Amino acid sequence: MKLILAIIRISKMGETKEALSEVGLPSFTAMPVLGRGNGHGDMERAGDAAPEYLELITEVPRLKSKRMITLVVTDDKKELAVETIIKANQSGKSGDGKIFVLNTVGSVRVRTGESGEYTLD
Ligand SMILES: Nc1ncnc2c1ncn2[C@@H]1O[C@H](COP(=O)(O)OP(=O)(O)OP(=O)(O)O)[C@@H](O)[C@H]1O
Ligand SMILES: [Mg+2]
Repeated sequence: MKLILAIIRISKMGETKEALSEVGLPSFTAMPVLGRGNGHGDMERAGDAAPEYLELITEVPRLKSKRMITLVVTDDKKELAVETIIKANQSGKSGDGKIFVLNTVGSVRVRTGESGEYTLD
């Protein structure tokens, strides 16, 4: 099992949710987060700012509001999950998001106490 952790734009939540449902991955967790990537977006938005101001823009660690979604899938669905998230979120601009894939050692459905891969659905 793999845990897919994706940090995406807030504006892409709806599309991402729909896309995951469409490919048969409707179960996931979403949470509001603050984060920062490589900062290229800051530079792009800086436009014609004076050099001394540019320095401020790049050095101040401003955090952006994002959404983090996590979903646990069977190993054979990892590529599908990652590709679906990319398809829904890729605009080609800085800040499109980041996806991490982690190994997961267990899953338990609390209602029944059952464990194993089939509790993911
Ligand atoms: N190495 C990282 N570790 C943890 N979180 C990260 C990491 N890189 C990015 N993030 C999270 O992902 C969010 C989106 O990152 P972002 O899309 O800006 O990635 P990037 O690597 O800067 O790529 P780009 O050049 O396209 O902007 C960040 O706001 C941050 O929350
Ligand atoms: Mg970035």
